[in-house]
Amino acid sequence: MLEGKNVNLKIMEKDEAPVFVEWANKPEFFGEYNPLVQMTKTEVEKMLDNPSDFKLFFVEKKDGNKIGFICHFHVLHLGTGSKQLEIGYSLVPNERGKGYCSEAVKIMVDYLFLSKEVMRIQAQTDQRNLASQKVLEKAGFKKEGTLRKNFFLHGEWADNCIFSIIREEWKEPKILTRTT
Ligand SMILES: CC(C)(COP(=O)(O)OP(=O)(O)OC[C@H]1O[C@@H](n2cnc3c(N)ncnc32)[C@H](O)[C@@H]1OP(=O)(O)O)[C@@H](O)C(=O)NCCC(=O)NCCS
Repeated sequence: MLEGKNVNLKIMEKDEAPVFVEWANKPEFFGEYNPLVQMTKTEVEKMLDNPSDFKLFFVEKKDGNKIGFICHFHVLHLGTGSKQLEIGYSLVPNERGKGYCSEAVKIMVDYLFLSKEVMRIQAQTDQRNLASQKVLEKAGFKKEGTLRKNFFLHGEWADNCIFSIIREEWKEPKILTRTT
């Protein structure tokens, strides 16, 4: 469990997959700036079994109520090997706009820089997704540029912004003071 002030991040267990499946199959969960997703419980369980560094965490309020997820996974790049990770996140609609995702991203960044020999963490978001971009900026990410027409969204190709934070910019933990 990674503990923050208002939220904790808890690694998702296989038997908790149904919670994620229920959210993911509702269009409003990933919202207007993410592709429509339909996933079976088996598919999510397989994802959780993935031996590569794909990890899915619940974002939980202090009372244990699950309000969303945050994940990290490897970015394949010959030059950096495993030293580059990407994150993704979504919250249930009625828990947005309360600062929870900003805190979750800060916790995740602290955790990854404290526990892995990672040099760079990146995130991608539709260029119209201003809430997501604000979350990243508040956690110290910088916008690097636009990936043109790089994902298929609601019947057309859309542009994504790419953001990153590198180890030198992070400097020290913002929320996590310990990793165990
Ligand atoms: C994007 C998302 C994760 C943000 O989570 P959240 O908990 O609402 O974010 P926070 O409350 O921590 O911060 C959001 C910030 O964006 C701002 N914001 C929200 N909507 C905005 C908009 N349309 N334009 C500009 N800023 C906006 C908020 O004011 C807040 O900034 P502040 O703290 O300075 O007031 C959430 O909206 C979500 O789950 N959306 C659907 C899925 C999604 O888009 N996931 C991200 C994929 S890259």
